[in-house]
Amino acid sequence: MRTTSCVKSLSHVKVAILFQVVISSIMKPIPFSPPRVDEKTIEAVTAVLRSGWITTGPQTRAFEEDLRRYTQSGPVLCLNSWTNAVELVLRWFGVKEGDEVLLPAYTYAATANIVMHVGAKPVLVDSMQHAPLMDLEDAKKKLSARTKVIMPVDIGGFPMDYEAVMALSKSFSKQFKWEQATDVQKLLGRPLVIADAAHSFGAWYNGNPVGGQTDVMAFSFHAVKNLTTAEGGSIHLNLPAQFSNDDIRASLNVSALHGQTKDALSKTQAGNWRYDIVEAGFKCNMTDIHAAIGRVELDRYEETLTRRKKICLKYNEIFQASGLNFTLPIFQSKNLESSYHLYMLRVNGFSEDQRDAVIRSVAEQGISLNVHFQPIPLLSFYRRHGYEMTDYPHAWNAYANEISLPVYYDLLDEDVARVANAIIEAVKKIC
Ligand SMILES: Cc1ncc(COP(=O)(O)O)c(C=O)c1O
Repeated sequence: MRTTSCVKSLSHVKVAILFQVVISSIMKPIPFSPPRVDEKTIEAVTAVLRSGWITTGPQTRAFEEDLRRYTQSGPVLCLNSWTNAVELVLRWFGVKEGDEVLLPAYTYAATANIVMHVGAKPVLVDSMQHAPLMDLEDAKKKLSARTKVIMPVDIGGFPMDYEAVMALSKSFSKQFKWEQATDVQKLLGRPLVIADAAHSFGAWYNGNPVGGQTDVMAFSFHAVKNLTTAEGGSIHLNLPAQFSNDDIRASLNVSALHGQTKDALSKTQAGNWRYDIVEAGFKCNMTDIHAAIGRVELDRYEETLTRRKKICLKYNEIFQASGLNFTLPIFQSKNLESSYHLYMLRVNGFSEDQRDAVIRSVAEQGISLNVHFQPIPLLSFYRRHGYEMTDYPHAWNAYANEISLPVYYDLLDEDVARVANAIIEAVKKIC
């Protein structure tokens, strides 16, 4: 009798545990994009902390060389963010009040903000009708005698047609002449092309890794990016032969450190204290702690990319099979391959409110979705500066029914199915 009741209560316990496991796996929170931090990352950071040198030094310089090799680009400079890195480039090129910079309306605010920082005007370009990238036909119409920079954005990690952007820049002198130009602007003789490659580290363009295709290319290593240093960014310098990319790198490096002629590491070497300040520079260097994280990430980046690709293709498969009216993201075309940074799903026919209702409904199951991006003219600061959303209809369409799904190395196959099915159910309920 006693044995039986014991067995009974044991099996009750087992059922209760099983129930809990099932419930907690159903309700397990799925974040949007947590970083891949493991013992390797922790060991690398700890080694720097123990080394006696924690700011810019050997790790940062080695990371720059690793990045240069990986991307097959010109010289690389790592700084503390994409934002500060590219602002320095705008300043180096002498962009200022009265100048214009062409950039897509559909991007993150950073791309436009740095143009405002230097006093120039962001000239917003609409998106292509069928892709969330800058429409070069619209860009052509907006090129003017004041254009000093063209800044396309690889939204979600899919590369722009860089050759076409370079061709647009090269067409400038056939139509326009700058009224005023700095020495570097005269030396280039056309608008500088800076690719906002914040999302596209690891993408491919015509058989080559992204990094060496336009005058300047800049990646972000912010915490949610494919490859992170917590915060950070890199500039890759590929200017034509009349420039010394090594000299430009050296001068940007000085600008990133108060305009000081020696960095902290060389200054601390015995007897080497004296330095000069040659400009009122910025302070936006990358530290060795951050670079050490980046070096671990880069070492295993192929593994990261393979996993991200698998997740994105699995989402595509599930949504395709759903029979619902989705536009699925494109990750590959004839000569291009994405870095699989974002999975950007569009629910055709859905309004902004219906899209937001899907996100809320899925959030009730502990799943975090996101939206990329609110186009620049939707943001109050830019509205106050006279930008109007109705002038960029394709950018609006790209945004209004867009949902970004979780994509990260540790996302399990069953999580992928759970996210996709939660979205499918929510869409069915709401439409
Ligand atoms: C398209 C785009 N450009 C630029 C940036 C700015 O990068 P960072 O945060 O490294 O300054 C971001 C950041 O998310 C971005 O999404």
